[in-house]
Amino acid sequence: MADNGLILVTGAAGQLGAVGRTVTGLLLDRGLPVRAMVRREDDRAAALRASGAEVVVGNLLEPADVYRVVSGCRRVYFGMSVSAGYLEATVTMATVAREIGVNALVNMSQMTVSQMSIQNTTPSPQQRQHWLSEQALAWSGLPVITIRPTVFLEGFFLPLTGPSVRDRGRIELPFGRGKTSPVGTADVARVVAAVLADPGPHLGRIYELTGPRSQDMHGVAREYSDALNREVTYADIPPEDWERELKKVGLPEHLTRHLVTMAELNRAGRYDRMADGVERVTGRPAMSVREFVSLHADEFGGRRA
Ligand SMILES: NC(=O)c1ccc[n+]([C@@H]2O[C@H](COP(=O)([O-])OP(=O)(O)OC[C@H]3O[C@@H](n4cnc5c(N)ncnc54)[C@H](OP(=O)(O)O)[C@@H]3O)[C@@H](O)[C@H]2O)c1
Repeated sequence: MADNGLILVTGAAGQLGAVGRTVTGLLLDRGLPVRAMVRREDDRAAALRASGAEVVVGNLLEPADVYRVVSGCRRVYFGMSVSAGYLEATVTMATVAREIGVNALVNMSQMTVSQMSIQNTTPSPQQRQHWLSEQALAWSGLPVITIRPTVFLEGFFLPLTGPSVRDRGRIELPFGRGKTSPVGTADVARVVAAVLADPGPHLGRIYELTGPRSQDMHGVAREYSDALNREVTYADIPPEDWERELKKVGLPEHLTRHLVTMAELNRAGRYDRMADGVERVTGRPAMSVREFVSLHADEFGGRRA
């Protein structure tokens, strides 16, 4: 069947990294037709509809739902929340995409997969599932484009450092002296939208995405200070205390184990990575920590006059 241009974006209501929601907006801005998949009918679905997307409700773990939402689309962005069913959802999507026949499947993965192999996985169930998902998609023979971002500014640094920076002027994380190069999901979404708009040159490619600088957390704290015009420091807290706090908030076990592994890998220097995927695909460099914190100053307690 010919490509009628309709693009499916899954996880379109997301509000953590919100890659799907941002991609939807960017594609609509380009005048492309978007089918935005959400899990439930709510005000986020209404906002997507108001912005011009065709909104469909479904569960990525239900094969019949996935078949219904993919039908009629030849280009797909596949991403969903960090959750225990991720591999099942990926394989379901791959099965349906093969049956229907898509021209491009943009798969959200993670940078850590670049360093994984049979002999070298990580204890994070999410990272393992991304690694296995990439294997399964490779076997599928589908026209896949793989997006491997490092840790998100929106989906990690904002929720997990916002409150302590606001209340105590401190970034409190168990990252030791490890370096990190967080990337903005605004940039990740720009990459995904550019690929979906014209997938041909990107088919089969893997894009690793980082921010413009890899530095330890004291360096990150200096960028927060510059953006907020007040002192922000880094406190290297014990990993056990952080894990206890995460458990207190009642996060699902899958997510807690993922976050605890991320901290371990950070301490071990495994997030000290640099990649130019954002600039290579979009022609614009990735946003810095300072730019990000400036844009979100209110959520970090405001900028001192
Ligand atoms: N956070 C990071 O630092 C980071 C770094 C690199 C890569 N990633 C990857 O980025 C992805 C997450 O992206 P994001 O932060 O943009 O996501 P997000 O904002 O959390 O949005 C994910 C969306 O998926 C939807 N969803 C979850 N389960 C579903 C299901 N069974 N059926 C249909 N929809 C479902 C959620 O719906 P509801 O809102 O209704 O629950 C949510 O809207 C993951 O693959 C993660 O591994 C994250």
